[in-house]
Amino acid sequence: MGEENIYNIQWFPGHMAKTRRMITESLPDVDAVIELRDARIPLSSKNPEIERLCSSKPRIVVLNKSDLCDPDELPLWIEAEKKKGAVCIGVDSSSGKGVSTVGRSVASACAEKIERNRQKGFSVRIRAMVVGIPNVGKSTLINKLAGSNKAKAENRPGVTRDRQWVKTDYGFDLLDMPGVLWPKFDNKICAENLALTGSVKDDILDIESLSIVLIDRLKSRYYSLLAARYKIPQQQREADAVELFELIARSRGMITRGNEIDYERASRMLIDEFRSGKIGRITLDRLNRCLI
Ligand code: G4P
Repeated sequence: MGEENIYNIQWFPGHMAKTRRMITESLPDVDAVIELRDARIPLSSKNPEIERLCSSKPRIVVLNKSDLCDPDELPLWIEAEKKKGAVCIGVDSSSGKGVSTVGRSVASACAEKIERNRQKGFSVRIRAMVVGIPNVGKSTLINKLAGSNKAKAENRPGVTRDRQWVKTDYGFDLLDMPGVLWPKFDNKICAENLALTGSVKDDILDIESLSIVLIDRLKSRYYSLLAARYKIPQQQREADAVELFELIARSRGMITRGNEIDYERASRMLIDEFRSGKIGRITLDRLNRCLI
């Protein structure tokens, strides 16, 4: 199992240039920005420049996929963001939990502008956009916020898909095109976290090394989840990541005809089960790194 391939992910300066361009082009048209992060990796899924680029607008930080993160960690991350002065909400866009709080927060963040418009007799609607790294749930959240309004917009024949606005039920319009931010890959742990949660393409990763990284991360903080799911005896707690991997593969019968471990199949199974939350609710980032 090669160790080095996972680090083929590079931080390309061109990515940040794209992010800057996207923000610079769309920001003048909106009153607020909804910044999505992955609640399992609130730090690694944060674009390092977003705060600076959007400093002129109210920003609502959404920790999405909160159904998959450690429920004990989520309030701590939200509290840490709030201490920095941000509006921060844990959301499960798939089920819609927390989505209405996001809607109300955008409206209240723009309350002053709404009031100014009202006093001047303008009926200008507030506009917002959703930004975040690939696969963090931007489209899912947009669909939930737009609700039935979205379906209406899509059904209109001949309407160009370019920069459409959809009405929400919360008194603002939403740019119907999420802004893709590039994550920061220059830190090994951050790159691993993005790979583990599926924010970067699998085909540029060595899945076997990635699964060892996963076990290595889980074995200290989430050993009991691993042990329960894959029926690993408690006395194997001191086993290293490769030994645990082999126990897991064997317990799932992922063995070749020659009685060898089927590393590829077992790796895919482990990564898939982690990503879909089957191993349990897990947060990979460590909060104390955020507070440094
Ligand atoms: P993007 O626009 O930011 O690229 O992300 P998108 O909305 O396409 O969502 C990426 C994947 O994440 C989708 O799964 C979506 O269902 C899932 N997802 C989005 N929000 C949440 C959430 O809060 N919780 C959970 N558990 N999943 C979420 P997929 O497997 O790619 O597609 P599908 O399963 O929806 O078919």
